[in-house]
Amino acid sequence: MNLHDPKTIVALDFPGSQQAFEFVEMLDPSLCKLKVGFELFVAEGPGFVETLVGKGYDVFLDLKFHDIPNTVASACRVASGLGVWMINVHAFGGRRMMEAAREAVANDSHPIKLIAVTVLTSMDDEDIKSLQVQATARDQALHLSHLAYQSGLDGVVCSAQEAQAMKDLNGLGFLTVTPGIRPKGSDQGDQKRIVTPEDAFLMGADYLVMGRPVTSAADPVAVLKEVATFS
Ligand code: C5P
Repeated sequence: MNLHDPKTIVALDFPGSQQAFEFVEMLDPSLCKLKVGFELFVAEGPGFVETLVGKGYDVFLDLKFHDIPNTVASACRVASGLGVWMINVHAFGGRRMMEAAREAVANDSHPIKLIAVTVLTSMDDEDIKSLQVQATARDQALHLSHLAYQSGLDGVVCSAQEAQAMKDLNGLGFLTVTPGIRPKGSDQGDQKRIVTPEDAFLMGADYLVMGRPVTSAADPVAVLKEVATFS
């Protein structure tokens, strides 16, 4: 485990390990954690993740498991065996699935964080309605966060704008991991509801997920050091 506990998780949204390693070479585990998502994991596999862990980084393996309880539990157990810091599942898989995931990693030699995705931020009220769920996207996200809490999970991925409500409902210790972060003056890209790093921490975010504002910066280390001043 990284004793520094940096609060920024850099999304390694690169197509392959070569580009990812070139970027990681500029960093240091005391400056940030790293997030590996579908693209890089499908391209490079578990060995790539283990290499990052071996370099001393806390790694968030963002694979959003969603299947029957036994299958998700097995996947979580294997993921945890890679030595990663955090993994996630879809809360829509339900309480039994989340409890099975929790149980599967409960006795690991290293304490892993298990968090939930509630409602994807790409979905709006109309999308939720089309699933015949009678709630707004926000209310559904809050409801699913509480189900995750009751299932023993450590927190959720959410917008910084929802972070305080997640904590009001589930307690201060319930982790909020927030993407959609843009430092003042940086390119918004395809993110719709953006929040600055400073505001995100003030709104109750525990960890910020940042991709392009760091990976495309002329000086990524300077961006990370500035963000750290707000945490
Ligand atoms: O480049 P940017 O800062 O927008 O990257 C954000 C990262 O967070 C990407 O890896 C994206 O897939 C992820 N993410 C997100 N919104 C969510 C969940 C994850 O942007 N609701």
